[in-house]
Amino acid sequence: TATDTPETADVLVVGSGIAGCSAALAAARAGAAVLLLTKAERPDDASTDWAQGGISTTRGDPAALTDDIIAASDDTADPDAVGTLVEAADEAVEDVLIDTLGIEFDETAAGELDYTREAAHSERRILHVDAATGTHILRPFLNHVDDRERIEVRQDTAALELITHEGRVHGVVSDEDATGTPIYAGTTILATGGIGALYGRSTNPDDATGDGVAMAALAGADVADLEFVQFHPTAYAGESPFLLSEALRGEGALLRNARGERFMPDYHPDAELGPRDVVARAVETEREATGNVVLDVSPLEFGDEFPGIAEKCRDRGIGGDEIPVAPCEHFLCGGVAVDDRGRTSLERLYAVGECARTGVHGANRLASTSLLEGLVWGLRAGEDAATAGAEPEVVEAPELLNRDPDLPERFAAEKFTRLQRTMDEFLGLERDPDEIARAGAVLRRLKGEVDAYIRTRTARDLYELRNASVVALLIARAAGENPESVGCHYVVEDESVPEQTATD
Ligand code: SIN
Repeated sequence: TATDTPETADVLVVGSGIAGCSAALAAARAGAAVLLLTKAERPDDASTDWAQGGISTTRGDPAALTDDIIAASDDTADPDAVGTLVEAADEAVEDVLIDTLGIEFDETAAGELDYTREAAHSERRILHVDAATGTHILRPFLNHVDDRERIEVRQDTAALELITHEGRVHGVVSDEDATGTPIYAGTTILATGGIGALYGRSTNPDDATGDGVAMAALAGADVADLEFVQFHPTAYAGESPFLLSEALRGEGALLRNARGERFMPDYHPDAELGPRDVVARAVETEREATGNVVLDVSPLEFGDEFPGIAEKCRDRGIGGDEIPVAPCEHFLCGGVAVDDRGRTSLERLYAVGECARTGVHGANRLASTSLLEGLVWGLRAGEDAATAGAEPEVVEAPELLNRDPDLPERFAAEKFTRLQRTMDEFLGLERDPDEIARAGAVLRRLKGEVDAYIRTRTARDLYELRNASVVALLIARAAGENPESVGCHYVVEDESVPEQTATD
């Protein structure tokens, strides 16, 4: 219900990862009053906090980084967007991460910055702190934005719908009240992260439900490249997967199948350091053929070089030098279509970070460019949003229904399981056109059920399910419309459609 004096902000940011923090910082620096919402109970519960490998710099050779990004993307990255990223990279890292936040990236024994390497990088150019770089960036970043006078950070508050009027976005309806609380803003910046919750296994936090992509698409914004869902080749293969950073392979770790054979040289000239999509498919092929794939960390001083990951392994009781690995959903390369300042096709709406499609990643993202993209586009969008001169306008906001607040909670959990099974089975590492069509049919039915349910109860899990089903359907549609194998969209023909499916 709208209160007498509705809440307003100059710039409203939704999401508390590196992209949201960067947008908030730049908007506040430009003089705006900023409200940053995050649905997480702890604002640092964002994908950024889980990022391991590091953040790429150009290390003085922008042309080489440009070439690597474009090559990893299977030549599909937008050269202008890559140019924007590469040109801004070093200054953004220096200004925000080093000078403003004081992050102490790892150094060599000689006191120089220690640059690591990951797959498909031709140079050592990645700054890192252990292999827990995201945590070491995000926590000081959140402290900094929270301390700034012009920024309010509000946690445990989800944006459920965008408020739109005549093609403009005027803020969001949040879940602070059972029937939704409107928050009006001059400009709104979505920084909601990824879609890991659409798959059974992901390297994202559980609440990565594609909220920004879904809300923007439902409001009519253009989306693009949604078929390009990136799978990381090396997540722990057991229960509760966690990432085994590409930096491990960058420093010499090897992939072996169940026969102990090193197989990557048969798949790509760069072997373990081939593009991520190629390595992920090779790992899956060898798992299917031989039963198991391990990451052999014996060429490294594992415990000394990667203490954080080594500790995670010890916590799970994984001893020795061989860690069982399997591919796992990791990153959405597409998203809400934006320009070089993060502007979407809807007036006064911006999108940054993983929920945005800038064109930098094309069909396959190069390692350690996601934190960088969030930083660079966050800063650009935040500044533009603050200086666009849009005042908050109070228009009619969607009023959400809560007719039946006691409906059973398990509805959302059950539907989520069906959605994840469908995505795992039909929209994973390999896609068959018939199976994509079948997934579309399942997802359309599921979305219909969710839409009917959402009319009766305002609950965050239902909106998350609505968002996940919208994005899942958009992924199925994009995958169905692209018959070409490119990057992480790998189309296989003539696979027989199994009798037992997620529909059963
Ligand atoms: C990793 O550490 O392997 C992940 C890096 C990335 O996804 O950019």
